[in-house]
Amino acid sequence: MSKIFVPPIKCQGIKTKLVPWILEIVRLTERQRWIEPFMGSGVVGFNCRPASAFFADKNPHLIRFYRAIQVGEITPTKARAFLEAEGERLRKDGQKYFKTVRMRFNETASPWDFLFLNRSCFNGLIRFNSRGGFNTPYNHKPERFDARYISKIANQIDYVQKAMSMKNWDFVCADFRDVIPRAQVGDVIYCDPPYLGRHVDYFDSWSEEDEHDMAALLAGTQARFLLSTWHSNQFRRNESLERHWGSFTMKTRQHFYHVGAKEENRNPMLEALVMNFEPLPAKNCAEHATLVEQLALLEKPRGYTLGTGELPISGPRP
Ligand SMILES: C[S@@+](CC[C@H](N)C(=O)[O-])C[C@H]1O[C@@H](n2cnc3c(N)ncnc32)[C@H](O)[C@@H]1O
Repeated sequence: MSKIFVPPIKCQGIKTKLVPWILEIVRLTERQRWIEPFMGSGVVGFNCRPASAFFADKNPHLIRFYRAIQVGEITPTKARAFLEAEGERLRKDGQKYFKTVRMRFNETASPWDFLFLNRSCFNGLIRFNSRGGFNTPYNHKPERFDARYISKIANQIDYVQKAMSMKNWDFVCADFRDVIPRAQVGDVIYCDPPYLGRHVDYFDSWSEEDEHDMAALLAGTQARFLLSTWHSNQFRRNESLERHWGSFTMKTRQHFYHVGAKEENRNPMLEALVMNFEPLPAKNCAEHATLVEQLALLEKPRGYTLGTGELPISGPRP
């Protein structure tokens, strides 16, 4: 595929590196509507470039930000001017200024401040306390908004603005329970919820009940669905795969998550895509062929039951 577009907002669990794999499996056609109940940064759907799409998330700040681009409130030119001015203040006062903006954002919910904080906080983490206040710490880079970085963000806004202007895309703040039932025959639903038991956050938590409700809705949908989840890492495997998703098709691929700046914090994870359809065979390219061969043992068709001894687990299981 052509170059992957990286969106202007970062978030935990962002699927940028998995985009080619997901798009290869989904093969969206012009007539199919894309429904993404957990849009996060939007990287998957934006790269899919559907003619018609319903992007949703429970986090209102993400939706407000993309709507502001859609209605022309946030433009590349205005973003450049804003980040230059705010970046200068950050350069002068560092953490103190970051905290001023964070406090302001928690009072006004401005999409401009959301952009500033997202691009100057630790690891682009979007994290909220129990009262819904943004509380990710500063990344301690007072020079963050240099000319190159600002241009990069302005270009990212430009790309997404142009993409939206040519398509029929809706951005809605909603719980997935109100989104999945909207799907009809011919639609494609892509779900990428927070991973079970991994996050506890005001907008971004996930419980067994959530997983159960989502599984029931997806099992009953007439649309095609794809679900991103995790299969296993070196310590644990995802028990909910068997519990909720055993009757569907599953594909796996290894992925590295960065939890910190150090090399040793790169944690390999076997990612899974669960779907209610049989994907077309992968396109004939060498990289894909090798990968398919490597992962063949881990992939199971519809009706899969988790076995033992096939997972790259070295630590104790829960
Ligand atoms: C793993 S992130 C999605 C990442 C996204 N696929 C990307 O690549 O940027 C999960 C998202 O689910 C959202 N979320 C959490 N609980 C939700 C719920 N009950 N309904 C809708 N969205 C929810 C979070 O706000 C978060 O943006």
